[in-house]
Amino acid sequence: NKVVLAYSGGLDTSAIIPWLKENYDCEVVAFAADVGQGDEELEGLYEKAIATGASECYIVDLKEEFVKEYIFPTITTGAVYEGEYLLGTSMARPVIAKAQVEIARKVGADALCHGCTGKGNDQVRFEGAFSALAPDLTVIAPWREWDMVSREDLLAYLAERNIKTTASATKIYSRDANAWHISHEGGELEDPWCEPSKQVWTMTVDPEEAPDTPERVSLKFNEGALTHVNGQSVSPYEGLVALNKLAAAHGVGRIDIVENRLVGMKSRGCYETPGGTVLLKAYKALETMVLDKASLKYREQLGLEFSHVMYDGRWFTPLCNSLIAGAASFAKYVTGEIVVKLYKGQATVTQRQSPNSLYSEDFATFGADDVYDQKHAEGFIRLYSLSSRIAAMKKQGDE
Ligand code: ARG
Ligand code: SIN
Repeated sequence: NKVVLAYSGGLDTSAIIPWLKENYDCEVVAFAADVGQGDEELEGLYEKAIATGASECYIVDLKEEFVKEYIFPTITTGAVYEGEYLLGTSMARPVIAKAQVEIARKVGADALCHGCTGKGNDQVRFEGAFSALAPDLTVIAPWREWDMVSREDLLAYLAERNIKTTASATKIYSRDANAWHISHEGGELEDPWCEPSKQVWTMTVDPEEAPDTPERVSLKFNEGALTHVNGQSVSPYEGLVALNKLAAAHGVGRIDIVENRLVGMKSRGCYETPGGTVLLKAYKALETMVLDKASLKYREQLGLEFSHVMYDGRWFTPLCNSLIAGAASFAKYVTGEIVVKLYKGQATVTQRQSPNSLYSEDFATFGADDVYDQKHAEGFIRLYSLSSRIAAMKKQGDE
């Protein structure tokens, strides 16, 4: 028996290794995904996994794939969950799950394991992906099986087995980091009336302490893909990293929200998405230059639908493919340059230009022009409101 565990090196997944061996009489292969969460989390991970009892540990670099194949397609849909959440954790789950399945195939495993709690969205996202990609593999979710409930329980469990850990009994927040964002839940945040303390935030400068001088950043897109940041040619991942650095220094991208989890409960979370906030703003600003009213309205509907597809763990579905294909056909027009001003927590679009621009100063001007005859507006409005006129006339006649 062989199980591939999605391993982070944290306390939970560390306890899972011996627990799997004891309860499933199996070999445990640790798998860790590098989705841009930072070197601190990945450092020494291999040695740690082996010391905790894993037979093997695979660390897979998914950074470019994550940004290019998951984040950018999501940006082109314009998806924002419940008007605020930029879906950082949601987008990372399918790419991680897919790589985990690939490792399982490679080592000939018969089961997959994750450390998500039984109360959240992540379990649904992982197992949704497993179902679509590897319906033959058994899924093990220890948090739904064992009777440990606290960090103390997990620490005691490891101590009884003489397994060393650097984890402490108190860890206030549950965090999830990747190239796009970091999420913070738990601790005082569980009280929605409680303002987040300064120690919640880890990725961005406090907007109140951000520089007094604004900074401008230019983003160039070609058919929906980010190609340049401040004139420098970038890969999707490099572009995101560059934007994170610039935006984080100005405190851009913090949100504090209450959201509806798929499993029915509400949860309160704080998120930091510095580069992503700028990227999405710029992308949408460019769309406003190139998409006509009906197209933009449809793209907005598509984004609303897609925000739920992504949040709810439905990446590997025909609906997801179809929405992404629809968004891609709009993205073909999204070519041009946007300048965003960063200042004390705000990202404001100040300049836009595109070869596909439908904006024409000549048409919009309040001065004289020759494509728009104001007399034509009269007939248009008359027919456009004809049904209202007919209904109102009928009502008058009835009285
Ligand atoms: N609530 C967010 C989401 O569902 C963040 C979840 C964070 N996950 C975690 N394992 N800490 O996407
Ligand atoms: C978890 O429950 O493992 C984290 C939170 C979530 O998945 O929503």
